[in-house]
Amino acid sequence: MTFRSFAQRSSTFHLRYLVLAVIAIYIFNCLFNIADFKPSNFKPFPTDFKPTHYIKSHEFRFTNLSAHPVSGKQTVLVLTLVRDRESWGGDRSFSDFLDIVQGFDYPMSNINLGVLASDKKEFKAITDYIKQLPGDKNPFRQIHVILREKDAGISREDRKAENVQRDRRRLIARLRNYLLYTTMSDEDSVLWIDSDMVRIPNDLLGRMIDSGKDVITTATRSGLSGGFIDLNAWVGERTKPSAEEQATIEQGGIFVPGPKSVKSTHELQGEFEELDSVGATVLFVRGEVHREGVAFTTNYIIGAGWKYEGYDGIESEGLCYVAGFLGYKCWGMPHAIAEHSEN
Ligand SMILES: *[C@@H]1O[C@H](CO)[C@@H](O)[C@H](O)[C@H]1NC(C)=O
Repeated sequence: MTFRSFAQRSSTFHLRYLVLAVIAIYIFNCLFNIADFKPSNFKPFPTDFKPTHYIKSHEFRFTNLSAHPVSGKQTVLVLTLVRDRESWGGDRSFSDFLDIVQGFDYPMSNINLGVLASDKKEFKAITDYIKQLPGDKNPFRQIHVILREKDAGISREDRKAENVQRDRRRLIARLRNYLLYTTMSDEDSVLWIDSDMVRIPNDLLGRMIDSGKDVITTATRSGLSGGFIDLNAWVGERTKPSAEEQATIEQGGIFVPGPKSVKSTHELQGEFEELDSVGATVLFVRGEVHREGVAFTTNYIIGAGWKYEGYDGIESEGLCYVAGFLGYKCWGMPHAIAEHSEN
């Protein structure tokens, strides 16, 4: 074999493999190219799931995976705390609370619910109620109920006395945080509603979301014509302790800050007004804000030291304090009025 014929044979040899390689790459592309990927070539995932219940002595979860969130709309986790049956206000119950949420002008399949009860009987009442709900009365994708039997031992009648506020609000903060961290998954936002709210404007949730704001609360009054009770939602300055009073605080004494130049939400004018502190009767928090660690403070953080507690900024009031350092802002909606039970 001359050198010439060897070169010719070897180049046809190479050409054959080159052609084979090109065909292989083409077939590979046809099969696996993402752009050409056809889900219909594959066994589809089931699109309907049976609703399921999951129950343990301290945790209940109802899931309906057939309730698909409307795309392009935020998902919202609606949270509430109840101590016991009385916490719903008057002779109201969990079903009245559901009515409020279902009254919202918002797709229910985008709403998940979380409830924390501190009383076994009420936990059972709530979960029994959910289990017997017919499908068309239960439009939510998930309802999560938690039992956490922690109690500060303060009766409903005494709950407004000054000397019990620290223990009461510390407990509320702990329970709120527990509920939040246990139930929050991938929701875009969280809406806190007090269990004894009786009326909330239907368009409120949509307006809060559309505003793009971080933390928002409403004006709140007691009943249809009662006085305003949004005292934890304010902007301005509160009184500070004197040196003597500060010394008492450091020994564990109580100082109750009063308004110095403070306006509550209902005393403001605009559609949205910036606040220094919020209450949690109706409180919207963008998911990102909670996820970064802005929650309910479990001690008075204003005026605190390493070994002693301060005198202001506990629970929802501390939430804005913490949020502020992360560049988030709190807002009140003076013209959006929510009603709290009169009892
Ligand atoms: C589950 O969701 C679907 C779709 O929204 C609804 O038709 C069905 O009634 C729901 N089932 C229950 C038990 O809630």
